[in-house]
Amino acid sequence: MSDDKNRLTTAFGAPVADDQNSLTAGPRGPVLMQDTHLLEKLAHFDRERIPERVVHAKGAGAHGYFEVTADVTRYTRAKFLSQVGKRTEVFARFSTVGGEKGSADAARDPRGFAVKFYTEEGNYDMTGNNTPVFFIRDPLKFPDFIHTQKRNPATNLPDPNMFWDFLSLTPESIHQVTILFSDRGTPATFRHMNGYSSHTYKWHNAQGEYFWVQYHFKTDQGIKNLTRQEALHLRGADPDHATRDLYQAIERGEFPSWTLEMQILSPEQAKDFQWDIFDITKVWPHAEVPPIKVGKLVLNRNPVNYFAEVEQAAFSPGNLVPGIGISPDKMLQSRVFSYHDTHIHRLGPNYHLIPINQPRNAPERSYQRDGFMRTDDGGGAGPNYWPNSFGGPGPDAAYLEPPIPLEGQAARTPYGHPNDDFVQAGNLYRKVMTDQDREHLVGNIVEHLAGALPRIQLRQAAIFYKADPDYGLRVARGLGLDEARVKELAAMSQEARAAATSQ
Ligand code: NDP
Ligand code: HEM
Repeated sequence: MSDDKNRLTTAFGAPVADDQNSLTAGPRGPVLMQDTHLLEKLAHFDRERIPERVVHAKGAGAHGYFEVTADVTRYTRAKFLSQVGKRTEVFARFSTVGGEKGSADAARDPRGFAVKFYTEEGNYDMTGNNTPVFFIRDPLKFPDFIHTQKRNPATNLPDPNMFWDFLSLTPESIHQVTILFSDRGTPATFRHMNGYSSHTYKWHNAQGEYFWVQYHFKTDQGIKNLTRQEALHLRGADPDHATRDLYQAIERGEFPSWTLEMQILSPEQAKDFQWDIFDITKVWPHAEVPPIKVGKLVLNRNPVNYFAEVEQAAFSPGNLVPGIGISPDKMLQSRVFSYHDTHIHRLGPNYHLIPINQPRNAPERSYQRDGFMRTDDGGGAGPNYWPNSFGGPGPDAAYLEPPIPLEGQAARTPYGHPNDDFVQAGNLYRKVMTDQDREHLVGNIVEHLAGALPRIQLRQAAIFYKADPDYGLRVARGLGLDEARVKELAAMSQEARAAATSQ
């Protein structure tokens, strides 16, 4: 007899007598339907996989804390940011974007940088990337963009034509493409990269004043990237290198940390700002909006069970707390819908009851009821409607967000002037990158773009040329393209360029 603790049981707790021999009619006879242990075991196994994330499927996560290091109460009333020295539990997940759950960590891809803060006012998720900008700035383009980063519908292969066709027809991507094809597109590990909100968010203080803000989590380990040769080697030799690195560093007691810096603009400053602050393809130049240090993020505990804690983790830019709100950025507005929607598909309507997602420091008190996998008491005998006069929880107007002024017509209006799109990418190429950065950038692009059709190469080279002539010409030379034709295409409008390179 085994003791209770070591005894194998069925899912419903009954002891299992034999886990090696199925129940058969006679020693060589068929298996009996009454082997309920076998049936339960197979049926559960058949359902082990849940849908993988449609993007950011491959990732690694860890627990830790966030500590406030500066007084920011004049900008936000968020309680978890209310006092220097205050600590809040967090769970962070890092990921690649385009690949499947088993894909290589060293892919050239943005890295997801998602942090869940378990605050006393509810869970707050900062769901960002390791790049301060993004490829597109209208959510209608997101599913198309992601399709081009995935597999060709006919060949089931990654396809440089799809990849570059879309990007070269979407010039607003040039800033992010320039970062992606620099060595920052292949970070050495998850520990050696920054995390950015990329979007503008809205903070407000206890007096009802609001501010536009951007988050920058700067790695305390220092930025470290892979060259394309190193990345290529790792993709084959150790596809899980970044997952392993994070886990092992934490096991060794080398806890990775990031310093949170914020860029903050008052609504008055934002009015005259030279860039559209809701356009995610642009940064706020540091010289104009110097980042201020706010806190430290430290990861110091590995998950015990990957599926329970990492695979089932559900982040959403819509998980906000009082003092932090979203901005009118169209992409952000749509993300607020998309994440909750996909979580319901991936994890079910009660995914907030899965321990990693539970608002563990601010228990749910709502009138949402029932649904698949309602694993708590579902509100017990309490009222299930509002308003009620039976003592149920009620809303509190003290948590209203300050309003923001809006004007204009309900219309499908694009952002800014398309010529703006090349300025910041050009600055990055000319002013920020070193000679070696530029050489690696051009080499990384040439290697990848070489797989696309010549007409697409020409169109994309013209986009690089518009960011900086040297940039475009070096790519053109690397690909053996006609430089005069690249200049000609660069001088055209986007529509004319698309038409001139349509076949
Ligand atoms: P700054 O010179 O003040 O900032 C340049 C920043 O660029 C650095 O602080 C660093 O950001 C980042 N950087 C350094 N090397 C690279 C690289 N190889 N690839 C990508 N980013 C790099 O200039 P500005 O603020 O005026 O920005 C100039 C350009 O720098 C922008 O157009 C943008 O492309 C890039 N940049 C700007 C950021 C911002 O928020 N202003 C953030 C990141 C990039 P970090 O310290 O965050 O690592
Ligand atoms: C994951 C949609 C833009 C960062 C996801 C997921 C969806 C999605 C559906 C899968 C979520 C899940 O299954 O748990 C969108 C849409 C976007 C958009 C519709 C634009 C309209 C962005 C941007 C960023 C970003 C701009 C960064 C600034 C992330 C991260 C994850 C993610 C980090 C992974 C979260 C995790 O670790 O679980 N996105 N996304 N996304 N997205 Fe986006």
